[in-house]
Amino acid sequence: MRIFSRIAGTGSYLPPRRLTNVDLAVELAATGVHTSDDWIVERTGIRARHFAAPDVCSSDLGTEAARRALLAAGVLAKDIDLIIVATSTPDMVFPSTACILQNKLGANGCAAFDVQAVCSGFIYALTIADAMIKSGAATKALVIGAEVFSRILDFEDRGTCVLFGDGAGAVVLEASVTPGILSSVLHADGKHVGILCVPGQVSGGAILGDPLLKMDGQAVFKLAVGLLDGAARAALIKAGKVAADIDWLIPHQANIRIIQSTARKLKLSMDKVIVTVDQHGNTSAASIPLALDTGVRTGKVKPGQLLMLEGVGGGFTWGAVLLQL
Ligand code: ACO
Repeated sequence: MRIFSRIAGTGSYLPPRRLTNVDLAVELAATGVHTSDDWIVERTGIRARHFAAPDVCSSDLGTEAARRALLAAGVLAKDIDLIIVATSTPDMVFPSTACILQNKLGANGCAAFDVQAVCSGFIYALTIADAMIKSGAATKALVIGAEVFSRILDFEDRGTCVLFGDGAGAVVLEASVTPGILSSVLHADGKHVGILCVPGQVSGGAILGDPLLKMDGQAVFKLAVGLLDGAARAALIKAGKVAADIDWLIPHQANIRIIQSTARKLKLSMDKVIVTVDQHGNTSAASIPLALDTGVRTGKVKPGQLLMLEGVGGGFTWGAVLLQL
């Protein structure tokens, strides 16, 4: 019998501290950095973001999201045999955030590792979990995107610090005789390293270089739309579907203009797109599972529907997953 993987439950978690654009503008103005609600909304569609408290790590946010996904799936932590955490803001250099989260969750013993593909991290992690389930290497996986991007923002750079937020999203992916994940596409091109990066590194226990995010926003924008469109189309072809079959497009939530352009290229109306960037900002690897869970919990996204998940981020990395919920 052929084995597929299927999402059994979703969950997400946002740290309680929410800053509107006005809140952030007031905080930044106190340090001589000037921005406005109008500028941020017009260029990005972002209205608010959440920032974690200083003692809260990606594993804390991811654990909460995972608990909610387990509850929604009716699965116990002890029955999970694989945990993959997508993050670019791990708790430590090592052990992996997945190991730290596994212990907090009480799922000790199962395989656990991190995936680092920045904003495409969740697409990468979901694809790996799907392949492991299909191969028989796992039966019940937790796939999590968790980030505390506020820790790597340069709050003197108004071109980047207004764009990002913290949060986590998770799914329980389990073996099933019915699909599930229909197709998946992953890509990377390392020649674009310089346009979106955190160039610092740890050597001998010390940070060398600059540990804060650097981005050429216009170069990222131009690349992102074409790459997302290509990945979505390839995933549709692989599954024998067409764009009109998609019930919901759930894209990486970086910028409303990128999201609108992607939907337009697929000839999908914005009524078929889950948008959370206005409330969450860009939460990198957490953004797609956060948007998915928001769609499910608001009753928009329903069992049986066809979902296109797509992401693009630093590396450059990009990809798409087409699935039947
Ligand atoms: N508030 C007010 N003014 C600002 C701000 C701000 N927060 N940031 C920049 N400006 C000013 C600049 O200083 C500049 O002023 P000047 O003309 O006097 O020099 C002006 O606004 C225009 O700056 P640009 O950087 O050219 O603005 P642009 O229109 O390109 O918008 C943005 C910047 C929003 C980053 C845009 O390039 C973009 O959306 N890029 C996509 C990048 C993205 O979404 N990245 C997310 C991470 S990557 C990913 O997740 C895929």
